[in-house]
Amino acid sequence: MRILFIGDIVGTPGMNMVKQAVPLLRVAEKIDLVIANAENASAGSGIYPTQYKQLRQAGVDALTMGDHIYKKTEIIPTLEKDDRVCRPANFPPGAPGRDHIIVSAPDGILVAIISLLGRTYMRPVDCPFQAVDRVLQALPADVRCIVVDAHAEATADKYLLGHHLKGRVSAVLGTHTHVPTADEQILPGGTAFICDVGMTGPYSGILGRRVDRVLPTTLNFVPQPFDVATDDARLAGAIVDLDATTGRASAIRRVMIDEAALRAPRHPSA
Ligand SMILES: [Fe+2]
Ligand SMILES: [Fe+2]
Repeated sequence: MRILFIGDIVGTPGMNMVKQAVPLLRVAEKIDLVIANAENASAGSGIYPTQYKQLRQAGVDALTMGDHIYKKTEIIPTLEKDDRVCRPANFPPGAPGRDHIIVSAPDGILVAIISLLGRTYMRPVDCPFQAVDRVLQALPADVRCIVVDAHAEATADKYLLGHHLKGRVSAVLGTHTHVPTADEQILPGGTAFICDVGMTGPYSGILGRRVDRVLPTTLNFVPQPFDVATDDARLAGAIVDLDATTGRASAIRRVMIDEAALRAPRHPSA
């Protein structure tokens, strides 16, 4: 089974890339399941229900979020009733949303999806190690394919999660920094790992925001809106191959698609 995991979708440029690239990638790469981190879909912060629907219509089967999950509170009813999106599992128990989801891929293969937040340089949350152990213990025995979105600032946090979960989950894939790393690997036990798959959005800015908004604020301390940048939109993610019976990963490959690749006659990830 082949899974495409897409990194933080930022604003309209990120949404447009997903809408254009995902249908092409599904065919060209023979993707069975698409998972996307959508915490920045709405103007860089949170997601509205309309954008949630658009991503699902574009072929995204399941969504994870992150620290920006509740920035657009209109999404809360969707988080509570829809079974294709989960909240971080290490949020407090009263936080709206599911602490994991299980989706059905083609041929009825069940895939569990879990989101975890890191604790370094981020708002304090519950222990991600204990949270993921609790969720894994509660999973039905026939769920072998498990994908974890490690949404964290520090690379060490992500490596710690990777080694805590190696041999127990199919993949630990990093998000949140918006910067792709080149450390993709298969950890012992068949767990695909990468520190960060990168951002799906405009690479002309600073982590997706306009330079002429972020840089002056940093220099003079006068706040202004951090609008989303516009140029050089790219889709960033990873493709993971899994054995559907054991859940073990056999390969992980980085994906980066820019606007030129979308226009190319060959398939977009070539
Ligand atoms: Fe993000
Ligand atoms: Fe984040």
